[in-house]
Amino acid sequence: MQIVESLSALREIVQSWRKTGQTIAFVPTMGNLHAGHLRLVEEAKKLSGRVVVSIFVNPSQFCAGEDYHAYPRTPLEDEEKLLSAGADLLFMPEASEVYPIPSLTSVEVGGISEDLCGKFRPGHFRGVATVVSKLFNMVQPDVAVFGEKDYQQLAIIRRMVADLNFPISIVGVPTMREGNGLAMSSRNAYLSEDEKRNAAILFQSLLAAKTSLEAGDRNYPKIEATQTEALVNAGFKPDYFSIRRVDLGLPKTNDQELVILVAAWLGRARLVDNLRVKAST
Ligand code: PAJ
Repeated sequence: MQIVESLSALREIVQSWRKTGQTIAFVPTMGNLHAGHLRLVEEAKKLSGRVVVSIFVNPSQFCAGEDYHAYPRTPLEDEEKLLSAGADLLFMPEASEVYPIPSLTSVEVGGISEDLCGKFRPGHFRGVATVVSKLFNMVQPDVAVFGEKDYQQLAIIRRMVADLNFPISIVGVPTMREGNGLAMSSRNAYLSEDEKRNAAILFQSLLAAKTSLEAGDRNYPKIEATQTEALVNAGFKPDYFSIRRVDLGLPKTNDQELVILVAAWLGRARLVDNLRVKAST
């Protein structure tokens, strides 16, 4: 596995692969890699001849007062994990390489970026869409792989790629979970052992809502309120618990394909998770 920090070195290697007709899959990350990230690399390997992974803690997607400085950075462990996972190239730029001059341009995916997490993290998805566009232009992959764990992020990237005609296929990969159901996340590092055990309740709240929907309950506000209350009682501070259509629109009572999304604070960690449901008619 080659490791590069500069855009010029990245481009040189990618171009040499292109010349020999190899296709390129790309996995953007912010590092502190866990099995969920490595699952994306595994999927990328199936899809393409070469796999590029980026590790870049993107300052522009952190709002004022958020955890940009505290975000866990473990480059040496990450390198080892990616080597074993079979990545071909690791791109680890400094912020000055990604943003060499103050940017006057940004990418804003209207509508879906303002809702759910966008409401609680103003400007977050503009930062994500902008850096992912920049990384797409830097790497120029054929395919890019993202986790379904960040359901709203994946929807925004898909929409951005469609709206701006990026010639890149976007592939989503199911969420990897700990044995107790907790979705793997770099931010789980902020949880104590006790909190980690307690954090499984977040997934249980999604499962409970799923059970209600599958049993034919279509009183969405009541299901949302019941699960929000359960989370509060278990020591969480929920930002939202929301039942949506799979395109993130508000559901009607006859919609069958639904997704339940939750974001909640537990101690210092803001946890997000979601679950797809086929509701009964
Ligand atoms: P990061 O949180 O590091 O996540 C990188 C990728 O891993 C994302 O596509 C995310 O959805 C996926 N992922 C995280 N946890 C997962 C899990 N438990 N199972 C499966 N996939 C999981 O998301 C970002 O970084 C950034 O916003 C980024 C897209 C890199 C832009 O800066």
